[in-house]
Amino acid sequence: MTNGRTIGTAALGDGGPEVGVQGLGCMGMSFAYGPADADASRATLERALELGVTLFDTADAYGAGDNERFLAPFFGAHRDEVVVATKFALAIPPDDPARRVIRNDAPYIRQAVEASLKRLDVDVIDLYYMHRRDVNVPIEETVGVMAELVREGKVKQLGLSEVTAGELRAAHGVHPIAAVQSEWSLFSRDIEAKVVPAARELGVTLVPYSPLGRGFLTGSFADADRDLTADDFRRRMPRFTGGNAAANAALLEPLRTVAVAHEASLGQIALAWVHQRAEVHGLPVVPIPGTRRPARVEENTAATRITLAEEELALLDPVAEKVAGPRYADMTFTSAGRE
Ligand SMILES: NC(=O)c1ccc[n+]([C@@H]2O[C@H](COP(=O)([O-])OP(=O)(O)OC[C@H]3O[C@@H](n4cnc5c(N)ncnc54)[C@H](OP(=O)(O)O)[C@@H]3O)[C@@H](O)[C@H]2O)c1
Repeated sequence: MTNGRTIGTAALGDGGPEVGVQGLGCMGMSFAYGPADADASRATLERALELGVTLFDTADAYGAGDNERFLAPFFGAHRDEVVVATKFALAIPPDDPARRVIRNDAPYIRQAVEASLKRLDVDVIDLYYMHRRDVNVPIEETVGVMAELVREGKVKQLGLSEVTAGELRAAHGVHPIAAVQSEWSLFSRDIEAKVVPAARELGVTLVPYSPLGRGFLTGSFADADRDLTADDFRRRMPRFTGGNAAANAALLEPLRTVAVAHEASLGQIALAWVHQRAEVHGLPVVPIPGTRRPARVEENTAATRITLAEEELALLDPVAEKVAGPRYADMTFTSAGRE
């Protein structure tokens, strides 16, 4: 496990600050993954920081601002030690609060950044992401507005989530992009074809989200309908229910083999694989596994010290192409053609 050792660092964007090579996804502390214990979440944040985690990931959409509000006291107590990353683009229509619409237009971004600054109770957002791409607004226009926020001192660095390589290149032409945040794990490897090479070429750091396959790769649940609470978002994700879940659970066998060899957990092997993408693809990679439990943040950060051998990578690499079901039930919320 941990021995209190801290993790290494990686650059956030070309010439950007060094951050802990593993970040912390904070979404589940307020949103999507069933009931959370606020005290345990706060203890997780503190433990993560002690272990060298500095990049903390949230979004305005996580619980309609609740997650940003929840994190504000922690950020306030450690402002100089943490890199605060948040996102805009998933707007709540006033007539239907349960729905989300993607908005990348200037008036929306302007009000979103002010609302996030207020909820987070910070003077500046360290890394501000476009969460999803609105195809009705040219990306150059969106990034143009984001660049104004940098010039105005409201935001330090810019990021994009779930973009294609073409969108990344166009955006980078307007203002340097420090990070691309996209799903990347043993179960989701499509970005390796185009997005990752473009990021390497442009000096952009990759921030893999859901590196534990939303927990499925840890073996902590095998069937969302059976194992998770009624309000858990994963019950609506095609990979984790019915026949797909059974087929995908069987794909964890190679992970188990490698985990036994390293006396590690399945999750640690899944994370070690993602961390090793940095070496395989030659760019900085800072995954942001999400957890609300201090013991798990210890376990997850310890995975940065595991190196997988070539034959172990060869065993794990083919898993992704066998996964049953798409990443989301509604793929219109992701960029078509990011692979
Ligand atoms: N840009 C985007 O569109 C996007 C989309 C999704 C997520 N994200 C960001 O990425 C972050 C991480 O992704 P994610 O939370 O979806 O998925 P993830 O990191 O792959 O998995 C999180 C799940 O795994 C469980 N878990 C964590 N460590 C574990 C361990 N050592 N053993 C067993 N279970 C463990 C967590 O449960 P506990 O919390 O109970 O420990 C949680 O249910 C989010 O928090 C969010 O900030 C971004």
